[in-house]
Amino acid sequence: METNILEKIKQKALEDSVPIIEDDGLDFMLQFIENEHIKSILEIGTAVGYSSICFCGVDDEITVYSIEKDEERYCQAVKNIADCELSDRITVVNADARTCKVEGKFDLIFLDGPKAHNAELLARYEKNLNDNGYFAIDDVYFHGYVDNPGPIRTKRMRALVRKLTEFQNDLMNDPRYECTYIRTGDGILIARKRG
Ligand SMILES: C[S@@+](CC[C@H](N)C(=O)[O-])C[C@H]1O[C@@H](n2cnc3c(N)ncnc32)[C@H](O)[C@@H]1O
Repeated sequence: METNILEKIKQKALEDSVPIIEDDGLDFMLQFIENEHIKSILEIGTAVGYSSICFCGVDDEITVYSIEKDEERYCQAVKNIADCELSDRITVVNADARTCKVEGKFDLIFLDGPKAHNAELLARYEKNLNDNGYFAIDDVYFHGYVDNPGPIRTKRMRALVRKLTEFQNDLMNDPRYECTYIRTGDGILIARKRG
């Protein structure tokens, strides 16, 4: 895949204020996908396809099924994926991940959609995870507010951070999962489903 196209996709996303995975978090995920021999990925939150395209760069056998609610971003993702000649390996659907049904099982489920609904999404998609497969949850520090909620100004944001913290504590204490915090990017929580 041409790095030039990928760089253009990234720059356009940044210019348009489309949130995409941070560089450090991406480096970690690429290494993780390679080390764990991940071949099938379900992604919640495609945005414009940047992370899906990068994941496919690790290995020619990787396939991604990705869900995006926003129609404009979905259309941009479809175009970007076609420009990278990856339409046969990345399937993007324009749907709400909170209600859509996904068939099949995956080695990795990357939760990068609506943060307030992480718990609901994990419960919804755990049936789609292979035994010994992984959830990877992005932005778990939420700009540092999860560790340090003091500076939060609004009630809404305080409630969101409380929800995120609760979700993470519950998952860490769930005996069905073995969890590891990765202190990179905005924080990634890896949860391995015990086989
Ligand atoms: C952080 S961005 C995804 C970034 C992308 N994974 C990347 O790194 O290139 C989160 C995306 O989730 C989408 N989203 C929010 N709620 C959603 C939902 N209920 N179902 C599907 N997508 C949703 C947003 O529109 C947004 O594009």
